[in-house]
Amino acid sequence: MISRNDPCFCGSGKKWKKCHFPTLPPESREDLASTYLKKYQIYLKTPEQIEGIRRSCKLSAEILKKTCAMAKIGVTTLELNDYSMELHKQVGAIPAPLGYGDPPFPKAICTSLNDVICHGIPDHRPLMEGDILNIDNTCILDGYYGDCSAMVAIGAISEEKKRVIDTSYECLMQSIAILKPGILVKDIADVIEKHAAEKNCSVVNQFVGHGVGVSFHEAPQIPHHSNRVNIPLAPGMIFTIEPMINAGVREGTIDAEDGWTARTLDGKPSAQWEHQILITHEGHEILTLAL
Ligand code: MF3
Ligand code: CO
Ligand code: CO
Repeated sequence: MISRNDPCFCGSGKKWKKCHFPTLPPESREDLASTYLKKYQIYLKTPEQIEGIRRSCKLSAEILKKTCAMAKIGVTTLELNDYSMELHKQVGAIPAPLGYGDPPFPKAICTSLNDVICHGIPDHRPLMEGDILNIDNTCILDGYYGDCSAMVAIGAISEEKKRVIDTSYECLMQSIAILKPGILVKDIADVIEKHAAEKNCSVVNQFVGHGVGVSFHEAPQIPHHSNRVNIPLAPGMIFTIEPMINAGVREGTIDAEDGWTARTLDGKPSAQWEHQILITHEGHEILTLAL
């Protein structure tokens, strides 16, 4: 019998598998979903789940936009927290960070200032001219998760701070632009590393993007730094990309007192933007866009 690597019977000179090999019937969504679950522990979302996650993401993006608009000189990060909390309550949503993890995260949003890489805890410190702030908002609406974050500049900021804000945004949007079925998870980081290097910035490797939707953090991890994760993207995958970009060294440390706040080792500024994205048959859809 002809084997896959033998020359094709048609005389093309190509291998049979690359020529007249009988193609398998296209895998049904269910078959692909069970393969991805077994092989990678990834949940490919059903159309019904996608609808619910889409709504949660839209809400999260709108709350994030409103909360960012409140971030001005003199406002405390605790006031931003309470405002986001109120917006969740009004529509019967729950802020996912509250009580999440170990030790339980104590607030509804993460507010990460200046040299804080991520997971900053809202407190009584008023925002000051020259600060840069990341606000990270995650809603649970009808059991579905919507996770996104954005940067705000408070008044006039330094060149260095502007550089990390712009670079992290460009890294996010350039890496989203390549997303479609068949692209590998590791291809995302290659785009991010290349752009960060061009802008003389470093890419944090201690925190990653993640699958999300039916729970807060699902498989797969989406590293932003160079890696060898060979998982091909498939329709129905939903995950975040959330590159943390530093002006100095990539390394950070976690605050020993609160167990959450991650700061750059050298005290230089860090910035992050985050979107939640659905892989579609044609390419991708950014779920966390506000009106
Ligand atoms: N929203 C963050 C993320 O992008 C996770 C925050 S965990 C928390 O994955 F507990 F700090 F909220
Ligand atoms: Co996230
Ligand atoms: Co987030």
